[in-house]
Amino acid sequence: MNQDVKVKSKSESYGHVFRELKVGPVTLPNRILFPTWQLNYAETDGSVSGKLMKFFTDLADGGCGLIMTGCAVVAPGGIPFNRVMHIDADKYIPGLKKLFAAIKERGAAVGLQMVHYGRQSSTSVSGDVLMAPSAIPCPVMSKYDPQYQVREMTAEDIEYIRNAFIDAAGRAAEAGADVVEVHACHGYLLNEFLSPYSNKRTDAYGGSVENRARLIVEIIEGIRARLIDRIAVSVRVSGDEFVEGGLKPGDFKEIVPMFEKAGIDMIHVSAGVYESMERIVPPKSLGLTPHVYIAGRIKQFSAVPVCAVGSILSRGLEGADAVLADGKADLCALGRAQMADPYLVKKSRAGREDEINQCKHCNSCTFWTTGDPEVYCAVNPDYKKPGL
Ligand SMILES: Cc1cc2nc3c(=O)[nH]c(=O)nc-3n(C[C@H](O)[C@H](O)[C@H](O)COP(=O)(O)O)c2cc1C
Ligand code: SF4
Repeated sequence: MNQDVKVKSKSESYGHVFRELKVGPVTLPNRILFPTWQLNYAETDGSVSGKLMKFFTDLADGGCGLIMTGCAVVAPGGIPFNRVMHIDADKYIPGLKKLFAAIKERGAAVGLQMVHYGRQSSTSVSGDVLMAPSAIPCPVMSKYDPQYQVREMTAEDIEYIRNAFIDAAGRAAEAGADVVEVHACHGYLLNEFLSPYSNKRTDAYGGSVENRARLIVEIIEGIRARLIDRIAVSVRVSGDEFVEGGLKPGDFKEIVPMFEKAGIDMIHVSAGVYESMERIVPPKSLGLTPHVYIAGRIKQFSAVPVCAVGSILSRGLEGADAVLADGKADLCALGRAQMADPYLVKKSRAGREDEINQCKHCNSCTFWTTGDPEVYCAVNPDYKKPGL
């Protein structure tokens, strides 16, 4: 655990975790979030499957306060997996409606993350020339994909993508989501626009920080204009890209007020891009809570709630409670901890920490490094790799 996050004793019973939090028009029952995971559990057409339904309803039964589903693709093209969730057509609304209702009737709030992969995809898999703010190949994907091709987006492409995100948010709202999250982290398309590392445009969408933020701002404004007060809007950013010439926490002093003015209700602070992959799902070697300080820094610039993430692992909810007590974030995302045991929140609240299936911090779930077709977990018996 980072020295700046002190773990308090269980006897304090997670008083910081079990407090409601208002995020825009939504009241969360507690401060624990499940961050979006690309699970590859959807049907092959991108609709909600029985496996997704089980995964997310278990988390809701387990006491998680806000469950972020997705990531769901907002537009066809450049999609690197064939079992990713989709939100790029109205036909996906009925399945999402059932999923969101099932989560909400269990007492959790539900969100949907919306994504476009940009240059961090594969031409071989998707069959497409990839789109990005600038025609700069992703150093990671271009190495692995012999057919890799990327092109600079035109003004028409930008308009198309802006509308695709706004339409997707409309569909999520129609399906009953409490929160929509704009995926602007981990080096995907909107992160590529925001970052001086991947955006070398010379038009109104490149250059100054205001120009680089423009597409995200327009998307947020568009969502807000369409949905007014019905739904909370979150934006997920990489608060430090951990690459030379990339975004650093201090850059958000200018960025966050722009997002807030556009209408966000929450900012979720992750880290890393593909070249700094270890920051996206931090391994054991980076220690516990390696990125909480970034959320803490960005919180200094934010009027809206801030979510911290990254190896907030402990026996029960001690780690998350300590982060909240320190005032570095308003809520904590626990991904692997809740993959290992979706009932972690409920068991912790009941003082049954001994019964929690502990995450081993082994990263066997990172299927893109293991070559697995979908997410498996080394300790959750429901998601064990077949044959193991
Ligand atoms: C299998 C897997 C899939 C992921 N997919 C996404 C995703 O679709 N969108 C996203 O923003 N983050 C994604 N992430 C990152 C997680 O949301 C989260 O930031 C990461 O697991 C670190 O949190 P943790 O230490 O609590 O697990 C993924 C992580 C894993 C392990
Ligand atoms: S595979 Fe390993 S790191 Fe991933 S959730 Fe399971 S125990 Fe944790």
